[in-house]
Formats: sequence, C-alpha cells, structure tokens
Amino acid sequence: MKIRKAVFPVAGLGTRVLPATKAMPKEMLTIVDRPLIQYVFDEAREAGIEHFAFVTGRNKTAIEDHFDRMYELDATLAARGKKTEMEILARDQPEAGAVSFTRQQAPLGLGHAVWCARDIVGDEPFAVVLPDELVLNAPGCLAQMIAAANDLPEKSNVLAVQEVPADQTHQYGICGVGKRDGKIFEVDGMVEKPAKGTAPSNYSITGRYILQPEIFKILATQERGAGGEIQLTDAMIGLSKTQKFYGVDFDGERHDCGSKSGFLRANIAFGMARADLRDGLRDDMKRYLGSKG
Ligand code: UTP
Repeated sequence: MKIRKAVFPVAGLGTRVLPATKAMPKEMLTIVDRPLIQYVFDEAREAGIEHFAFVTGRNKTAIEDHFDRMYELDATLAARGKKTEMEILARDQPEAGAVSFTRQQAPLGLGHAVWCARDIVGDEPFAVVLPDELVLNAPGCLAQMIAAANDLPEKSNVLAVQEVPADQTHQYGICGVGKRDGKIFEVDGMVEKPAKGTAPSNYSITGRYILQPEIFKILATQERGAGGEIQLTDAMIGLSKTQKFYGVDFDGERHDCGSKSGFLRANIAFGMARADLRDGLRDDMKRYLGSKG
C-alpha cells in the first residue's frame, strides 16, 4: 500500500485558543521557533509523502505564504551573509508543485474538511494529519503508521491510537480493541466521545489516519453528528462495515497544541528536546518552580 498524499485540514476556527487565533491561523502557532504546520509537514515528508494537500479557509493565507518563497527575505539574508537562516528556509520549503490548497468555505467539521480534498486525493489511499497534534518521536508517528500499513492487507485503514486515563475517554474518539499483534490491533468498533463509563477501551483515536478513498463516498452523504459537525469518526464507522480498521499504538508523546495547556507543554517538551535551548530552559524552569512553589 503506497501512501503518496497527505491531507492537512486547517480550516477550523481554533476557538479554544482565542484570542491568539482571531487574526492568525491556529496552525501558525509557534512551538519553539517553528509553526505547528511546519512540524506536521516535516513529519509527513519524512514518512515519504510526496503531495501535501491543505484544506484551508478564510483567514488562513499565512499558511500558503509560509510554504512559498519570500524573495525580499531571501535577498536580504543573502546580502547580510546569513547562511544558517537561508539553509533553514531552504530545508523547510516544499518542492514546486508538491503542495495544493483547496478551501472549505465554512467550518462544517473535520469530516467535511477531508471530503473537500477528494479531487486532489483521487482514487488512492491517503493520510490525514491534524496539525494541532504534535508527536515528539523519531521515527515520526506517520512513518510508524505507514510501516505498519505495509504489512497489512490491501484496503486496510489505519488509525494512530494512544491510551488516555479512563476518566477522560468521554473527551475523545475511542476504539474497541480486537485481535492484537504487538503495537497493532484490529479495531473493534469506534465511538465519538462516549458517555462516561461506556467507552469500549482507553484507546483514543489521535490526529493521524490512513484512509482508503472509499471514505469520500460516505462523507458525501454523511449527516451532521456531535457538535452539529460532519464528523470523520462517523464516516469511519460507516466504512468499517466493509473495510478493516487497525490501531497503531505508536511510540512518542502526543501534544494537543489546540488547547492552552497542551500548547504550553509542547513548547517545554520541544524546547527540552533542543540541544541549543535545553540547559537554559531547565535553569529557567527551576527558577520559576523555586519561586512559585
Ligand atoms: P479541531 O476541532 O481541533 O479544531 O480540529 P478547531 O475546530 O479549529 O478548534 P476549536 O475546537 O474551535 O478550538 C482539528 C483540525 O481540523 C481542522 C482544524 O483546523 C484542525 O486543524 N478543521 C476542523 C477543519 O479544517 N475544518 C473544520 O470544519 C473543523
């Protein structure tokens, strides 16, 4: 199963981190010195993805600009001899023609956003990557999923899953656990935000998916679900009637950067993972913890 394309839904309103997202896309929020969208782009590129499809909305042009060249900046950096900065910009740049942008005119939900990419994806399996969830690990989460998918039968769908505390399952999409082989298991049922005490397991569905193109047909007629939005989980439940789903219990810490506390934690975790920042950050945190109890 060759996965060549990844869809990045970036049309949401980011209401949980307002006012930061009033005039700036949530996906441009910065972890250490890079926007969220650059981390997930790199994760996908390292996993072998060749085409990157962004489903954008109003107020999101900064994302398109971020992946374009900035001639004035390049010229100024060159004139000033700023080689390191020039190398960073060149490294982060997609190859010409490797990115597409389409618009979701109204934020009708994640399922609807994915459906908006149907013509770009066409009739082949593809990845969906949510930019507000970062996973700190090498190899990246998507690379682990693609490696797992290579050993699965054709027409398999793959979900990145991670355990959450039992008292938090009602906040997530949860999947049941069937036959297990190491870190991979057959998904035995899925449910979006189960009522407290009714979850089939503690395994939450996280922001990485490998889906078969048949999902688009289901999304085309998917009714609104939880929160009045067209939910991807509901469409996956529909697809699971004819195709298998597998969970990959991936290695790495997951950070929900779309919440305030998750965003702060991610900055600390990614900062501590950086050799150039680690010591200073540790000293600063000790100082804060010492003075604030
Ligand atoms: P979230 O639910 O985390 O994002 O969706 P949100 O709706 O922007 O955030 P809150 O809950 O209001 O704070 C996960 C991803 O799906 C995209 C978002 O941009 C985010 O990257 N999304 C969500 C869409 O593209 N369209 C939608 O209609 C909803």
